[in-house]
Amino acid sequence: MREQIEVLLAAAVETLTANGTLPQGVTPRIQLDRPRDKSHGDFATNLALMLAKPAKQNPRALAEAIVAAIPSNAIIEKSDIAGPGFINFFVNQQQLIQQLEQAWADPNLGVAASGESHTVVIDYSSPNLAKEMHVGHLRSTIIGDAVARTLTFQGHNVIAQNHVGDWGTQFGMLLAHMEDELKDQASARLQLSDLETFYKAAKKRFDDEDGFADRARSLVVKLQGGDPHCQQLWQEFINTSLEHCQEVYDRLGVQLTRQDVMAESAYNDDLPQVIQDLRGKGLLVEDQGAQCVFLEEFKGKEGEPLPIIVQKKDGGYLYATTDLAAVRYRVGELNADRVIYVVDARQSLHFDQIFTLCRKAGYANENTLLEHLGFGMVLGKDGRPYKSRDGGVTKLADLLNEAERRALELISGKGTDLTASEQAHVARVVGIASVKYADLSKNRTSDYMFDWDTMLSFEGNTAPYLLYANTRVKSVFQKAGIDALAVQGEIQLATEQDENLANKLAQFPEIIASVGKKGMPHFLCGYLFELAGAFSSFYEACPILNADDPALKNSRLKLAALTQRTLEKGLGLLGIETLERM
Ligand code: ARG
Repeated sequence: MREQIEVLLAAAVETLTANGTLPQGVTPRIQLDRPRDKSHGDFATNLALMLAKPAKQNPRALAEAIVAAIPSNAIIEKSDIAGPGFINFFVNQQQLIQQLEQAWADPNLGVAASGESHTVVIDYSSPNLAKEMHVGHLRSTIIGDAVARTLTFQGHNVIAQNHVGDWGTQFGMLLAHMEDELKDQASARLQLSDLETFYKAAKKRFDDEDGFADRARSLVVKLQGGDPHCQQLWQEFINTSLEHCQEVYDRLGVQLTRQDVMAESAYNDDLPQVIQDLRGKGLLVEDQGAQCVFLEEFKGKEGEPLPIIVQKKDGGYLYATTDLAAVRYRVGELNADRVIYVVDARQSLHFDQIFTLCRKAGYANENTLLEHLGFGMVLGKDGRPYKSRDGGVTKLADLLNEAERRALELISGKGTDLTASEQAHVARVVGIASVKYADLSKNRTSDYMFDWDTMLSFEGNTAPYLLYANTRVKSVFQKAGIDALAVQGEIQLATEQDENLANKLAQFPEIIASVGKKGMPHFLCGYLFELAGAFSSFYEACPILNADDPALKNSRLKLAALTQRTLEKGLGLLGIETLERM
């Protein structure tokens, strides 16, 4: 519906440009909003306000001209001009019903496989393997998963890339420590089962023990030179660490598998080529022995040129070099039209530089979208980066244990008729869902406060609330013994609540479109919360099973069933498992 009105507005702009009302060459971005207040219509636009200046016209007069130039159509029932020149559109009810009937008949709920299908590479999770995954990796992993699922649902060819950090100097100290521990085979395995402790022990020796740091450095050199013994130790370490990651992914219900791992080290052989390409384009400058690129787009605070170092004096390569090689591969080999990076916002300068440089190096052209979806930090209640009780970083595995424990407490404390094993299942689903949803429902660009009580609450925009709402709609059908998919008859909009719910349901495709475009799962969370709210009001005000006549009963059953399917689909796109009962 939104798209259709946008097309109508674009046609109006074209007509007004052709007849001279609007100057040539003005191509406004047509923006349609969903007004909060129903009396302002179903959609509103500020188009006339935006165009008034270039057109040298009064905005209200221009709004009238726009309305008059909209081609005749069956969608817009009525247009009002409001305030300084907003245009409000009221949608024809028959159209609304028709859209919902189409959604009803479609397994994809009216989300058309988006016309154009793109190959989208999405780089997410991407932890460093030297340590165990901690709270900082949560955001990339679950936001990335939700965006990947949404893009797939839209019909894109989505390729996940888990760009794990498995290379670099820290591995020297880990190998040195491993060499010593491995003398006693069994204990090394055991020790690697707790990577965090293993890392700390190695780091302590690196800092304190005479000769250890030198040994670590020489092991890195040997590893990079392809020494079989070092390679084998390293491989063993990496495998163990990846197994830890996979456990976390499986528990979180994230779709990543070992197949999606494309580690930093996978690009090692491409790095000399990257340097050669940059040199060939005349982009390289030697600075104190290091190979650097200076881009005029990036200057320091004092206006001094900022280098991107791509090769150190000793010949070693850097994070940036690998990222250049990764773009080269993703665009060149995987044929990506769009590459998305779900990475901490603090790396935004790095990605700005990489993207700009890739275009200059010819690794991406103007048709390739390169996007950094940055996210903020996870904070504790004290407003500082989230820490475990002992003040250390919180391992993700521990965090998820606590989530499930708290959820179980909550459920068993509520007085429930579920069996113990059902309770355990519900607790697992609710616990994981709460952690995920708390993250997904916040605008990813800001920091957010990790707070157990809020995320596990049954009130507000939370996982427990939505999971419960979903089971409540399901129970309508269970109680009546009706198959939700077999409901017959036409939707009718008898009361304000029927209509509100119908309007919410009709927004699903446009919400999906905006999540896919902007990589913002919180749009979907906010929408599902509103949908659940609209259903709640509908359920209170409108008898479903006891509706006055059979046609109305069927219409309401259909609206309820569509609500349930939309909630289920939406939660699924967020990577959230749903429940039959709770
Ligand atoms: N391993 C990096 C980190 O933990 C994130 C990698 C993100 N992806 C990339 N292509 N740079 O900070």
